[in-house]
Amino acid sequence: MSFLYERIARPLMFRLDAETAHDIGRGMLKAGVAGRQRFEDPILRSEVFGLEFENPLGMAAGFDKNGLVADRLADLGFGFVEVGTVTLRPQPGNEKPRMFRLPRDRALINRLGFNNEGAEAVADRLRKIRRECVIGVNIGKNKDVPNDEAVQNYLDCLRIIHPVADYIAVNISSPNTPGLRELQQAEHLSDLIGALSAANRQLGGKPLLVKIAPDLSDAEIEAAVDACVGHDVAGIIATNTTVSREGLRTPNVAEIGEGGLSGRPLAARSNEVISRLYTHTGGRLPIIGVGGVFSGQDAFDKIAAGASLVQAYTGFIYGGPHFASELTRSLAEILRARGFASVSEAVGSGHQNVPVGAA
Ligand code: FNR
Repeated sequence: MSFLYERIARPLMFRLDAETAHDIGRGMLKAGVAGRQRFEDPILRSEVFGLEFENPLGMAAGFDKNGLVADRLADLGFGFVEVGTVTLRPQPGNEKPRMFRLPRDRALINRLGFNNEGAEAVADRLRKIRRECVIGVNIGKNKDVPNDEAVQNYLDCLRIIHPVADYIAVNISSPNTPGLRELQQAEHLSDLIGALSAANRQLGGKPLLVKIAPDLSDAEIEAAVDACVGHDVAGIIATNTTVSREGLRTPNVAEIGEGGLSGRPLAARSNEVISRLYTHTGGRLPIIGVGGVFSGQDAFDKIAAGASLVQAYTGFIYGGPHFASELTRSLAEILRARGFASVSEAVGSGHQNVPVGAA
């Protein structure tokens, strides 16, 4: 099957505009064409921020923006799915074309700009969906809302999606909503997360996570995390796409224009951010590691750097329907070969001076 995807389906899909191919792929997934192919192994099970995960591989935010295929992604072997980014009101996103493949770099560039059906529509859909795995919902700000009104916009969105989300991810790191990433600065972040955290407690206290960019300096990362820790944040998602274009093999990449780069070129920077977060928090704050995960080894590298869970998006686009089941099978083998009895035992094992598995 992965042979069929690599030799036939992917070359056909890659002839189409990237977003059109994505929409077709998602439609096929929704129709159940890919079937059920979960890999199950108790070594992959873990409990993180009070939720039970069958395996530590999640679909990163952006693939299932509207909660259309979360159940199907569980059938394909993902241990969790992050739906969204969802905004309070529906919005169309940026002008097309807004998604580009860089096959020589195993990467994508996108400037979708939070195209989504809005919180009410997504919440309605998630209320009815089969819940086969953990489903988080990632929330963002409407483009037409200025940053000084952002808190209310996020709060209204949170209230609508809260009942249908197992965890909530606060997205302040997309490069495609002007000014959004300024919310990562400690003083803004403290106001935003303080307000969301208080509302979350009133609504019944679900894990609240914050998703950060890879383009922050070490000092900015540490300040952002300190602001989060002060407000009961359950974990950090590291990282979103990068605005950097360093070290790419694709010629004339500047012609593509603005957008967030994902995939293989992001892996090393994402791992650095995970390591920095892990050491700064002494392994006490769970991290979801994301950026350039294509294989079981890539997932293990993030776990060893300090991630309790990992996510992938671009790897799935290049890998096809067998991506999650193959990756989780390989991760289980790597864990056993290295003498770990569980994922949580391996968390942070790449560090020498921080307690192993403290997250
Ligand atoms: C994304 N990503 C993303 N992240 C987010 O928080 N909200 C979103 O709506 C989106 N949308 C989105 C669309 C597309 C086309 C891509 C490729 C990515 C970022 C994504 O969740 C992830 O953080 C990065 O893509 C890095 O992981 P990969 O793709 O290298 O595995």
